[in-house]
Amino acid sequence: MTYEAIRAAKTAIATATGRDRHRVAIVLGSGLSGYAAGLPGAIEVPYADIVGFPVPKVEGHSGSLFSAELDDDPVMVLAGRVHAYEGWDLAEVVFAVRTAVASGCSRIVLTNAAGGLGDGMKAGDLVLISDHLNLTARNPLMGPNDDRLGPRFPDMSEVYSKELRDRARRAGDEVNVSLGEGVYAWFLGPSYESPAEVQMAKRMGSDLVGMSTVPEAIAARHMGSQVLGISLVTNLAAGISPTPLSHEEVTATADQARGRFTRLIDALLPQLTAD
Ligand code: HPA
Repeated sequence: MTYEAIRAAKTAIATATGRDRHRVAIVLGSGLSGYAAGLPGAIEVPYADIVGFPVPKVEGHSGSLFSAELDDDPVMVLAGRVHAYEGWDLAEVVFAVRTAVASGCSRIVLTNAAGGLGDGMKAGDLVLISDHLNLTARNPLMGPNDDRLGPRFPDMSEVYSKELRDRARRAGDEVNVSLGEGVYAWFLGPSYESPAEVQMAKRMGSDLVGMSTVPEAIAARHMGSQVLGISLVTNLAAGISPTPLSHEEVTATADQARGRFTRLIDALLPQLTAD
């Protein structure tokens, strides 16, 4: 079922955009979806018009696919994602990313808003994800495996490509955006973590906490795509931050970081469409 559904969504995207294949996809996280609107000549396709695509409901996610060409290379921007905490199955959570890979995207950029707990981290930092901790006891690959999508037991030794992180750092250097690096711990949400959970995550080796990205990264690796993960630290994590956490703080930090984020992604995309 999933395989046929992905094929149908892929056909819908090709028809709506006039582009059979895309090379790179970028998923925009909380408060970052405004990036898509600034893409010159982009074709917008609302998720609601793509058969099988789940439509996000949370604030700060608009829910459209944008297709643009950069030096003749088609790039797909997924503005808005759905989360497990909204009640979606993980198969639905990863559906858009699976469709992007099926549409030819051999590189997937996953961006998100995250809480920071690594030493010296502060709100506004942009951090490359080096690895993850899945603390949810859920996995998007649970259930029967479809060998047409990928292997039953996919390797996860390097979920977040070292090569793509190097390219991202080069892009950051070009436009004067410094990038940290850290391990992202996936919590289900929607409540933010307790201070004790944040300390647990820290002792376990994480630098970032958030409610997305990990299932998409697993599904993309399952299908053989390279993955780059970028977190915007929108707040210090609970108990490290002196103030209570709020979605308003998350979106306000994302708004402030928009200029730097846009510069980074503009410099990054040509690095990712190159061989
Ligand atoms: N925790 C989880 N998810 C988040 C956070 C956080 O502190 N900030 C933004 N998304």
